[in-house]
Amino acid sequence: MITLIVGTNRPGSNTRKVATHVEEIYASLRVPLHLIDLARLPAEIFSPTSYAEKPKAFHPFADAILNAEGLHVVTPEYNGGMPGVLKYFIDMLKFPESFVHRPVCFVGLAAGMWGALRPVEQLQAIFGYRNAYLYPDRVFLPNIGDLLDDSGRLKDSELLERLKIQVTGFVEFVERLKGIKLRG
Ligand SMILES: Cc1cc2nc3c(=O)[nH]c(=O)nc-3n(C[C@H](O)[C@H](O)[C@H](O)COP(=O)(O)O)c2cc1C
Repeated sequence: MITLIVGTNRPGSNTRKVATHVEEIYASLRVPLHLIDLARLPAEIFSPTSYAEKPKAFHPFADAILNAEGLHVVTPEYNGGMPGVLKYFIDMLKFPESFVHRPVCFVGLAAGMWGALRPVEQLQAIFGYRNAYLYPDRVFLPNIGDLLDDSGRLKDSELLERLKIQVTGFVEFVERLKGIKLRG
């Protein structure tokens, strides 16, 4: 199973829309996928007591990381970095086992011209620090407002192709690293 993380909790986010494309690509490859949408985090996780004890409602989120053969993170850029909620989510996960030797892959999107290069590189530093296996081929979607149509679909087939190449490459990366077959 691959776990796909929607890296913001902003209602109606473009990140969720791009993640839907990624979800569909995994489905077309018949790779089991679990989606974590940070918009669905339980309110209790934001209590300061959560550092010491995780609320029960958070357990399925933590388990979806621990049980994943690989993680696919879709992050927007907020103030030149990753959304605070994404870092907070990472900080709430069990360590070191959540990321050690777990393959991870990144997509970034932003209103601006750098396409979330900064948050993706921040995430690479964090996951690298936690000894994850970083998949090197990243996808950046700059000027995201112009890339999506009214129904939230990517207009440019070339960008969709880039996501397909990334997902296919990441699946092969995970299969080789773990010595497993993900594709059904
Ligand atoms: C709090 C906040 C900060 C943002 N800061 C940046 C930024 O620093 N650079 C940028 O290119 N876009 C920035 N944006 C725009 C987002 O990149 C844009 O909303 C994009 O659609 C991805 O975010 P979304 O998934 O929330 O839609 C910001 C958006 C929000 C909500």
